[in-house]
Amino acid sequence: MNVQHHSPVTLPFNPPSYVRHSGLKTWVAEIAGLCQPDRVVWCDGSDEEYRQLCEGMVKTGTLIRLNPDKRRNSFLARSDPSDVARVEDRTFICTTDKDDAGPNNNWEDPAVMKAILERLFRGSMQGRILYVVPFSMGPVGSPMARIGVELTDSPYVVISMKIMTRMGREVLEALGTAGEYVSGLHSVGKPLRPGERDVPWPCNTQKFIVQFPETREIWSYGSGYGGNALLGKKCFALRIASTLARDEGWLAEHMLILGLESPLKEKIYLAAAFPSACGKTNLAMLIPPEPFKDWKVTSVGDDIAWIKSGSDGRLYGLNPEMGLFGVAPGTSERTNPNAMAMLHENCIFTNVALTPEGDVWWEGMTENVPEQLIDWQGQEWTPEIARTTGRRAAHPNARFTVPLRQCPCLDPAWQNSDGVPISGFVFGGRRATTVPLVFQSYDWNSGVYTAATLGSETTAAAAGKVGQVRRDPFAMLPFCGYHMGDYFAHWLRVGQSLAHPLPIFCVNWFRRDAKGRFIWPGYGENMRVLKWIFERIQQRAGAAKTPLGWTPRYEDIDWTGLRSVTPSQFEELTRIDAEAWREELHRHGELFEKLEERLPPELLQHRGLLEKTL
Ligand code: GTP
Ligand code: SPV
Ligand code: MN
Repeated sequence: MNVQHHSPVTLPFNPPSYVRHSGLKTWVAEIAGLCQPDRVVWCDGSDEEYRQLCEGMVKTGTLIRLNPDKRRNSFLARSDPSDVARVEDRTFICTTDKDDAGPNNNWEDPAVMKAILERLFRGSMQGRILYVVPFSMGPVGSPMARIGVELTDSPYVVISMKIMTRMGREVLEALGTAGEYVSGLHSVGKPLRPGERDVPWPCNTQKFIVQFPETREIWSYGSGYGGNALLGKKCFALRIASTLARDEGWLAEHMLILGLESPLKEKIYLAAAFPSACGKTNLAMLIPPEPFKDWKVTSVGDDIAWIKSGSDGRLYGLNPEMGLFGVAPGTSERTNPNAMAMLHENCIFTNVALTPEGDVWWEGMTENVPEQLIDWQGQEWTPEIARTTGRRAAHPNARFTVPLRQCPCLDPAWQNSDGVPISGFVFGGRRATTVPLVFQSYDWNSGVYTAATLGSETTAAAAGKVGQVRRDPFAMLPFCGYHMGDYFAHWLRVGQSLAHPLPIFCVNWFRRDAKGRFIWPGYGENMRVLKWIFERIQQRAGAAKTPLGWTPRYEDIDWTGLRSVTPSQFEELTRIDAEAWREELHRHGELFEKLEERLPPELLQHRGLLEKTL
């Protein structure tokens, strides 16, 4: 036999005895043959396994252990500067029929794409370990949960998946001998030649994030970062799941779920969709300001919601994740004290700055900027250097990965296997102009119109230009795994199936004044808008009629303890500028034209109506 250093894995490679799924074993063997790793490791999800992986990565330089007196059991990872965010232009939906992917997705024929990928993956794990990562999105055994298996050559991905999902042996046991699972294959695309030294963050300049919804497969190549690599998150729980949801009559959404309890202990749950880096994590963990201290906000989830109708005809929402992968910059004791309280232990920080004491820092974390730091690229950083070069200490898409169980405002029902009953939807975007602080759509269909035509300024969560307004329907533009016209139709159908269609709201925390400053204080003060929404749902709050929907008048908002928003500023926050809205409707029209005959006629009609009333 020709024995080389990098001989392909030979069968049998001894999966643990609790692996009884022969289909899974065959698939892993096939992929091992293709990718040619040195070894295959079946992850059991134990704390000991996590500890050993972290130890190993500290030795190779992928992780830096933070000062345990500051952040116990926590690590810093610095990515390659070319691998810092989702790559939307390298993301593909591969369906047999191109029209099923829609104009909202990059498409390639599945067979053609498979051939391209097989070439790339051949030998891509040489010199590395292939980790088999079984995981469940949703509580194991829940009727709403789904199982996935990710094969990856990145130990950073393994430890991240341990935080973000229910991962390990328990999942394989639940899978049994023939259970269904979504298969995810991930490689950083950096094979090691014999004796070649690894780099701290291996990746490839060529990247492919590919979904095959028809066969429930994900192939991701070349990136180790976030949603590109943690396949349970956007690839599975949104792109693949949205197609499952279309076929099976439920919803997979880019939404937080929060609980809202009044001083009279009336409690509702809201599901809210904002585009990436537009405030979901912050809203899900809001602490009501002093005058609202008898109100309670609790978190079920901060990024993804799976929503199904129950036997009572209501909608129930479940967070399929187990952790937060949150935006670090801007997170502080002032803006999000609940998040700060979670970050003392068991965290992975990626692309934040390191202090001389072995702690982390990022822009907006403290008012006082440290004198001296190591920035996210491992370089010396001082406020002076920042002033002269514009270099940031942390990357704008720097993130923390932290177990949700550490959240101080966790909702008691966060792991309910049937989800929590949803009483209303909120949609929002980042808009410096045009979109008012809050309004309530008149009915389900006009709410679907509002969500479908949502615009938002692009952020650092995806590679590309920041700050450009684009249509981001339902905050799902990068995540809807099928034709957006069909997706709108699906939402309209869901509304018809409900005994009582839910109220739908639209918010915008990001309107700016003539000097470019945010007019609305945001963060905890968003409680004032939540209270109005709560009371609208309870049919207690007042509102004025506008072409867009019901909006609060100044006197309909509880201003106790807040003097920074004057009636004239409120007027500016809620103004509906007819000229700007005609332009806005024009943009809606451009989106609709792209969807062609798959655009539901109801939405076109509603646009006509708006045109008249505006
Ligand atoms: P993804 O994880 O990318 O999906 O983002 P997200 O929607 O969870 O956004 P997140 O809550 O992390 O907020 C993103 C950025 O917006 C952070 O820098 C926040 O500080 C900022 N932000 C959040 N809420 C508000 C707000 O009410 N007002 C203002 N001005 N900024 C906010
Ligand atoms: C987003 O971009 O919406 C995120 C971060 O939540 S990622 O996991 O990279 O998709
Ligand atoms: Mn997100």
